[in-house]
Amino acid sequence: MDKENTGRVLMKKYEVGRLLGKGTFAKVYYARNMMTSQSVAIKVIDKEKVLKVGMIDQIKREISVMRLVKHPNVVQLYEVMATRSKIYFVLEYVRGGELFNKVTKGRLKEDVARKYFQQLISAVDFCHSRGVYHRDLKPENLLLDDNGNLKISDFGLSALAESKKPDGLLHTTCGTPAYVAPEVISRKGYDGAKADIWSCGVILYVLLTGYLPFQCPNLIDMYRKISKADFRCPSWFPSDVRRLLFRILDPNPSSRIPISNIMEYPWFKRGFDDKLFKKKAKQKIDAGEVVFDSDDNDTVMAGQEMGKLAILNAFDIISFSARFDLSGLFEEADHKREAIFTSDLPASAIISKLEETAKGLQLKVKKNDHGTLKMEGLNISERGILAIDAEVFEVSPTVHLVEIKKIEGDALEYEKLWKDGIRPALEGIGCAWGMSK
Ligand code: ADE
Repeated sequence: MDKENTGRVLMKKYEVGRLLGKGTFAKVYYARNMMTSQSVAIKVIDKEKVLKVGMIDQIKREISVMRLVKHPNVVQLYEVMATRSKIYFVLEYVRGGELFNKVTKGRLKEDVARKYFQQLISAVDFCHSRGVYHRDLKPENLLLDDNGNLKISDFGLSALAESKKPDGLLHTTCGTPAYVAPEVISRKGYDGAKADIWSCGVILYVLLTGYLPFQCPNLIDMYRKISKADFRCPSWFPSDVRRLLFRILDPNPSSRIPISNIMEYPWFKRGFDDKLFKKKAKQKIDAGEVVFDSDDNDTVMAGQEMGKLAILNAFDIISFSARFDLSGLFEEADHKREAIFTSDLPASAIISKLEETAKGLQLKVKKNDHGTLKMEGLNISERGILAIDAEVFEVSPTVHLVEIKKIEGDALEYEKLWKDGIRPALEGIGCAWGMSK
């Protein structure tokens, strides 16, 4: 079965090696970039399975956000590729295996546990500041690199989390929802940031003790314990961590400690590299900005001359990346039918502009509340009525991604309408365009 990809060359670029892991929607393989010899991990997603559970829009949104997140403790997404049946995420390859392989050999020393916890919190804080939530932080998602640094995998790809079944219920592959916050279990609707903080608390407990805070022979009892945060710290537990843990494992998400306060705890601050923290805080000035190191810009910046650090924003990423056309992930790529661009206007202003443009071009307009707009021509051609969909995605509070595509109708009619009507009208609101104009 798993030999289906091993030994294959993908997109004339990656030689695919052994299987690293397997989940409901995806398999992860080791692979090597044949040009640069760089090792990567390739997550192969079965498009059909994802289509069946209706998660395409969510995944598209998450991919667009993932591309904006770069942090030393987050597994980086280098590139997204697609064929008719598969989606490929090309990810940073992390060699050191799962952090929890270490914990199964016994609890970690306090300083070591603190270092991993600092890296975990620093990464989670960074992603939250960009509006990206993990929602499924658990041992399998914590990897170690060659230097013993923690890397969180699957950040921002929670739509692909293996713990969610198509019906939205928790899927307990490893038999335990042990890392999941009470409000997630009770499905009350939850704040992704607060849910991630809870999971970090459970992880901290496990690192320090070598066992789970909420462990029961049956799920009902485990849920009960989680919902009451019914856990005990062993007597040797340092009192300053104990205090912190009780603030994190607060069953009420409203009173649960926010990350900014975790970072203020003296226990947390000990030995914390706050230079790195300050650098990241500076990057938060503009939610659309991302810092790329010069040595690992394989995808987005291929062929670009870069200084030591270059500030890129969402607009640059789209401008530079030939592969950013996410619509190509799910349909055969046809650049004449689809366009993608970013705008710094609020979603409502973008929608109004699209509406006004469509009306000016004598198109019928149908709007819904989820940031989509359907436009229809009035004339019937041999290929039916021209139908165009526009969709607005929030990348960050200041950056929106707009996708426009022809759904039905005559291609020539659309091209003409696009070139002479839509494209010029949107010139003023689009900051970076991701297709041939
Ligand atoms: N298993 C899952 N993701 C991985 C990655 N990025 N590197 C190494 N092993 C992995």
